[in-house]
Amino acid sequence: MPRQPMIAPSLLSADFARLAEEAQRVADADWLHVDVMDAHFVPNLTLGLPVAQAIQKVSPVPLDCHLMIDAPERWAPGYAEMGARNVTVHAEACSGDPRAVARDLRAAGSLAGLAIKPGTPLDDVLDALPGFDTLLVMTVEPGFGGQDFIAEVLPKVRRARTLVETGHLRLFIEVDGGINADTIEQASEAGADVFVAGSAVYGADDPAKAIAALRAQATAATR
Ligand code: DX5
Ligand code: ZN
Repeated sequence: MPRQPMIAPSLLSADFARLAEEAQRVADADWLHVDVMDAHFVPNLTLGLPVAQAIQKVSPVPLDCHLMIDAPERWAPGYAEMGARNVTVHAEACSGDPRAVARDLRAAGSLAGLAIKPGTPLDDVLDALPGFDTLLVMTVEPGFGGQDFIAEVLPKVRRARTLVETGHLRLFIEVDGGINADTIEQASEAGADVFVAGSAVYGADDPAKAIAALRAQATAATR
């Protein structure tokens, strides 16, 4: 079965004064990516649960909440309870076993995602991953949109894909940061399933067209 790439536009590059309209503009996306930053785990501050809940109410597509925050065990379940499809926490931010957070997320009704920064080896999370539904491999340093794709992290995507294909893991492999028409093919070839794209979608004149083009490129590049 060929992989069906999923495109998740990131609201970080949208107009924050018009979040409802911006969500409507990407109605043909697979997930809507919501970046939650706390100015502690990353040097930027975006939005929290009340705003995510407001987006959830108006979004035509399921939410993919990416929590770039400290103490994710305390906050993550709230995003699952409000109805997010997938909630991802950073491995580097978990003080205890990330599998405990995954259990809470699943119990609250969402998929559970684990993210790793570019410098974090896949080995650090291999034991925890069987408890998760999504592995988010950051392809930029988390914190800001519009950065350049870091191709050096692709071996982690490749290795994770092999573990999925050999039946050792069962999860979505998501890439986030610098995904655009120039980079999505290499990420897809490496084995990603879910492609977050902020500036490449919201910076385009026609976001729907950009989503379709990215999806077609990713599909053509699946190995
Ligand atoms: C960065 C965020 C990304 C960001 C991607 O920390 O996690 O989701 O919005 O933006 P682009 O696609 O512009 O790199
Ligand atoms: Zn993100």
